[in-house]
Amino acid sequence: MQFGLGLRPQHYVEILDGPAVQGQGRVDWFEAISENYMGQNHVGGGGKPLHYVERIRAEYPLVLHGVSLSIGATDPLNIDYLDALKALADRLQPMWLSDHLCWTGAHGRNMHDLLPLPYTEEALAHVAARVDRVQEHLGRALVLENVSSYVEFVHSTRSEWEFIAELSRRTGCGLLLDVNNIYVSAFNHGFEAQDFLAGIPVDRVRQIHLAGHSNMGTHIIDTHDAPVADPVWRLYADALRRFGPVPTMIERDDNFPPFAELVAELDIARGLARNTLGTRAAAGAGWSSSKRNSRNFSKAARRQFATG
Ligand SMILES: [Fe+2]
Repeated sequence: MQFGLGLRPQHYVEILDGPAVQGQGRVDWFEAISENYMGQNHVGGGGKPLHYVERIRAEYPLVLHGVSLSIGATDPLNIDYLDALKALADRLQPMWLSDHLCWTGAHGRNMHDLLPLPYTEEALAHVAARVDRVQEHLGRALVLENVSSYVEFVHSTRSEWEFIAELSRRTGCGLLLDVNNIYVSAFNHGFEAQDFLAGIPVDRVRQIHLAGHSNMGTHIIDTHDAPVADPVWRLYADALRRFGPVPTMIERDDNFPPFAELVAELDIARGLARNTLGTRAAAGAGWSSSKRNSRNFSKAARRQFATG
């Protein structure tokens, strides 16, 4: 089983030079934010971020994680964005590409937030058609993540997990399960996190996110600026029991601790997986950290997506 971290610019040098990471197998892979390597850092334009991510890619398996796809929006898909993403993926050969099941704006305006969808048949048909088009454009399966939310639409006719499961069935997209987001939304909306886990098809989950949040008493804000909370660790153990040894990573987006602290937090996830699944099961499924094997895994994963 493989354990990764979100790749953040603050840690580029430490990752490449730090004895805490290299050679000890304590970080098996990294997840890079796609947009950090697009725009002015577009593959055509080079740039320092791309230089670093390519060096890290040479040493570690990598997945790309976007925040701008806005797959649920009603604005037309941004073809320039998709072209740039495809070029980046062709260059970095990630194991997979992910983004969020959300919308980020309307009428050309970006809200700079990952907003939840109404879980209706109409929205499902709309998003499924867009996922199909994106997957065709990119020539790869998309992996979509559940977002945390603070509001719900009164006209939703399905639960979030039913919507996600059906979207995956219709389009063949993979799922990135953010266990913290499930916990946050369950608290905010009063549903059972266990129901969410039970409603997600086991064979679709490609990756798990863990992150910290801020509990305000009446509601939880998904801040990604703190260690993983105890109830989220417990929910992660439940997710492992249901989904097995799924590649797991910790996301930190603010209030960055020294890199070694994130690596130590990742060891908690590793230990929890060992305790929950047993040593053999936790050591199973995954990919080698070598560049060569990770690329083989990438091909295998794409084949799996293509047939899934
Ligand atoms: Fe996440």
